[in-house]
Amino acid sequence: MEIKINGKRTINSKINIPPDKSISHRSIMIGSLASNKTIVNNFLASDDCIATLECFQKLGVNIERNGNTLIIYGRDYNFDFPDDLLDCKNSGTTARLISGILSTQKFSSILDGDSSLRKRPMKRVTNLLEKMGSNFDFLENDGYLPMKVIGGNLKGIEIELEIPSAQVKSSILFASLKANSKTKIIETIPSRNHTELMLQSFGANIEVEEEYNKKIITVSPSNKLEGMEINIPSDISSAAFFIVLALISEKSTVIVEDCILNPTRTGIIEVLKDMNANIEINNVRKINNELVGTIIAKSSNLKSTIVDKNKIPSLIDEVPILAVAASFADGTTIINGVNELRYKESDRVKTTCEMLNNFGTEVYDDDDRLIIYGNKSNLHPAIVNSYKDHRIAMASSIMASAIEGQSTILDAEYVSISFPDFYKILFESSKEK
Ligand code: S3P
Repeated sequence: MEIKINGKRTINSKINIPPDKSISHRSIMIGSLASNKTIVNNFLASDDCIATLECFQKLGVNIERNGNTLIIYGRDYNFDFPDDLLDCKNSGTTARLISGILSTQKFSSILDGDSSLRKRPMKRVTNLLEKMGSNFDFLENDGYLPMKVIGGNLKGIEIELEIPSAQVKSSILFASLKANSKTKIIETIPSRNHTELMLQSFGANIEVEEEYNKKIITVSPSNKLEGMEINIPSDISSAAFFIVLALISEKSTVIVEDCILNPTRTGIIEVLKDMNANIEINNVRKINNELVGTIIAKSSNLKSTIVDKNKIPSLIDEVPILAVAASFADGTTIINGVNELRYKESDRVKTTCEMLNNFGTEVYDDDDRLIIYGNKSNLHPAIVNSYKDHRIAMASSIMASAIEGQSTILDAEYVSISFPDFYKILFESSKEK
């Protein structure tokens, strides 16, 4: 599907941002592992999270869904052998995290995904899980889906994570709950910690210590996980699109309430503030062990910045929209440490460069860094291919919204991976000037 967008738009609105994708995946996984009932309020019913939901139903978990509310009848780590393959569709989080969970099961199961997920590396997870005692057979291409997971008797390990990835960390965390001894995970660059926080609130024995610049996570194999009621906050990765739209548009304000503000996720806010963004945060509080609050963003005169490599995990999914903000900023922005983006739904270094280029921004893919020459006056409407990547579709739609004239976004329907109502909200909440 192609979408035509007429810019320049202004926006003055409170936006209903969808529930957090990472926490939605984990609510199903941890709810299924618990020994009794979990109620999930404000679940994200997007394509990625539905992929997780269907995988767990195939594993025999009874999940009742009424709109955005779920009742999950946990199976205390005892799932049924699935008589069909488990289709993770487009979702890397589903494939990587479920690999850790399936490693604890006594049966073998097959994981598969769509053509994009089949190109994303799995060895970052399977190499570590193999050290714990599970086995993997790659059925077509070495290191990629489809693969067979052969669960086993797991043992605890001590590892320092080489890639700062929450998906890798979480798969080990899930496996370590059923290992025969403690597991120690050392992070030198911290990634999002929703798995640790949610497991702790379900009663898992997980200790986190901070030593110099390291986080040391110690997991003791767990007693039972206790089901609970979970309320999922809005997703800052989705909010970022509308926050940036307000910043780069004239006379605009966007308000996002109940947004996740976990410090492992707020890198985008910190970097935008370094760029002179007019962003206010208030009503900060904790819900289910997670910080949430209100974000107010207003039209701003953005200036360039240099983003440190260590900051990337806290804004990993926001780099395309940050690059859009940098195109409207005065000066040269350098984003260091972008190579991990090459393993996302598209090679996001390449697709981000192509998007900016098409709109008239001078940008360079310089190995592990992106160099963006901000210059508002060079921007013009464009045709942009999203390469079936939801975040490229949304970032290019925001850029198009702030540029005078009509732009076209190709394969725009992929927004349903994380933000099904994106276009409805964009067109209803913003107006052409
Ligand atoms: C996610 C972790 C990130 C992120 C993805 C969601 C998660 O991936 O890009 O969209 O929910 O754990 P990596 O941990 O591989 O960087």
